[in-house]
Amino acid sequence: MRIMNRDEIDHIRSSVDIVDVVSRYIPLVPKGRNYFGVCPFHDDKNPSMSVSREKQIYTCFSCGATGNVIKFVEDYENVSFIEAMKILAGIAGISLDLGEIKKQTSSNHVLYDIYDLSFKFYRNNISSALGKKAKAYLKNRDIDESIIKEFGIGLALKDHDTLFQLLSGKKYDLNVLMKSGLVSRNDMGYVDIYYNRIMFPLWDISGRVVGFSGRIFNGEQDVSKYVNTRETEIFKKGELLYNYHRAKEEARKENKVIIMEGFMDVIRAHTIGIKNVIAMMGTAVTKDQALLIKRMARDIILCFDGDEAGQKATISCAEELLKIGVTPKVVALESGMDPDEYIQKYGKERFIGLLENPINIMDFKLSYFKKHKDLSSDQDVSKYIHDILGELNKMDDEILRELTIHKMSEEFGLDPEFLKSKLIEQPVKPVYKPPKVSKKLDKYDKAQMYLLYYMLKNKEVIQVYDREIPYMPTERYRNLAFHISYYYKMNGDIVVAGLVDQLGSQDELLKTLGEIEQLGLKDDYTLKEIEDYIRVIQEYDIKNGQAELERKLKEERDMNEKVRIANEMIALKVRREQYD
Ligand code: CTP
Ligand code: MN
Repeated sequence: MRIMNRDEIDHIRSSVDIVDVVSRYIPLVPKGRNYFGVCPFHDDKNPSMSVSREKQIYTCFSCGATGNVIKFVEDYENVSFIEAMKILAGIAGISLDLGEIKKQTSSNHVLYDIYDLSFKFYRNNISSALGKKAKAYLKNRDIDESIIKEFGIGLALKDHDTLFQLLSGKKYDLNVLMKSGLVSRNDMGYVDIYYNRIMFPLWDISGRVVGFSGRIFNGEQDVSKYVNTRETEIFKKGELLYNYHRAKEEARKENKVIIMEGFMDVIRAHTIGIKNVIAMMGTAVTKDQALLIKRMARDIILCFDGDEAGQKATISCAEELLKIGVTPKVVALESGMDPDEYIQKYGKERFIGLLENPINIMDFKLSYFKKHKDLSSDQDVSKYIHDILGELNKMDDEILRELTIHKMSEEFGLDPEFLKSKLIEQPVKPVYKPPKVSKKLDKYDKAQMYLLYYMLKNKEVIQVYDREIPYMPTERYRNLAFHISYYYKMNGDIVVAGLVDQLGSQDELLKTLGEIEQLGLKDDYTLKEIEDYIRVIQEYDIKNGQAELERKLKEERDMNEKVRIANEMIALKVRREQYD
């Protein structure tokens, strides 16, 4: 893989428009000079992210996330810098040949390697002579060769240590092998965790194999149908969704994603060409997963098993989604069937028909809460209405609330206004206002922030800073000023979106940059104003800088640095004499 140079990065970044790119992911509404949307990087329902076409950056007033178009794609897609550049080059129609993207290396690379090797081993087993029975099982379930290939389905052999033999032959550290969750130790020595199971690889969101689920296929008794690898540093169940990396493109295209309970359901859906599907894998949805789902598409459809457990899971998954402002729809299957069985029994067309007519989450709840109640009894009716009102209170969608109230009012002959009065007062949604600089800012903060604001706008102000300011009082402002000045030295001008690249992954500094940009000060400034900020900072330096420098001098071990600090102290002393 080739390293990209600065010019190439700048070229691609400036060939796309941040407003266009961000709009591919989240809806943006113009307002004044900027565009606003719901920030995808924290749990939010209000449009607190602003995107500036002029500056080519985004910044969130609520969580502080700040960056340029590259950082947005990296963080939104959970991809590396290079991968983000490839995506942007694609959007800009620029051909970018970087060769193979190398797998990220990290301290976990050994675990990734172990999983990769095991994956290949299992995959070979199933296509060997020893894989006949497993293949027959899959064939019987209508899973053909191409699906086995696409989903990387493999086989753990009957013997209890074949994988261990392979891995230990590669000289992997025994402790790491134990940590991987593929090997364990008993009286006999090291053995495989999996034997005689069909192995379904589990991928992380960027598509690397990080775990397995092994299924019995010989009608074994008294053992778990599926055994999943345990969590490791690279495998966190609550952070991944089965089939995410394969489904996300299709989900984006259709602006719709379907969520199922089991991975066999996902695989079956694939066989009939439905590709925007992911699965939860038998655990309750976490907030991380909900946020991931929210980013995939606008329409979210829950299609869980048609049994009591599946209905409970539908309610709890919807709950987590409602919390982050997503109102899912539901496809409720007839009792006792999961999507896999439904498709097998009724075929593709009928299943697609179901998907095209999902019901809204409140209608699902209306029938769910009716179960086990005797609606000829007033007491049960009262309980039922209370349940539904409770559910309505969790929801943001005002139209759906109104519709549901009307349904209940018709069904039970109650006045809709009366029902509405029983809803708890909805918390008034905070009307979004860009935060004003708090009055608590002291004059030093204000001077630094305002100076930084104009440094980001005009190189002349950077020159003044370089000439006049020895030391910014506040560390994060000082660091940002340093970076601005450095960027200017290297590039001869200031481009905020370019500065973001220089800041790299220093999130604190990016947030500081966002904070300064959010000041939204007037465009034009007078030299007099700049001089005033400078004077305030100088005054601080003169009063407090000496003490600060003394402290630094004491702590500094590097001789050259000591000399530099001492010189700075002398310069400061001279100024103080001038000032007094
Ligand atoms: N699961 C699990 N351990 C089990 C059973 C289930 O981890 N003992 C998880 C699996 O991730 C599975 C999901 O829960 O995909 C749904 O379980 P289930 O509905 O029982 O699986 P099916 O998809 O119906 O699998 P199959 O058709 O192979 O029986
Ligand atoms: Mn099933």
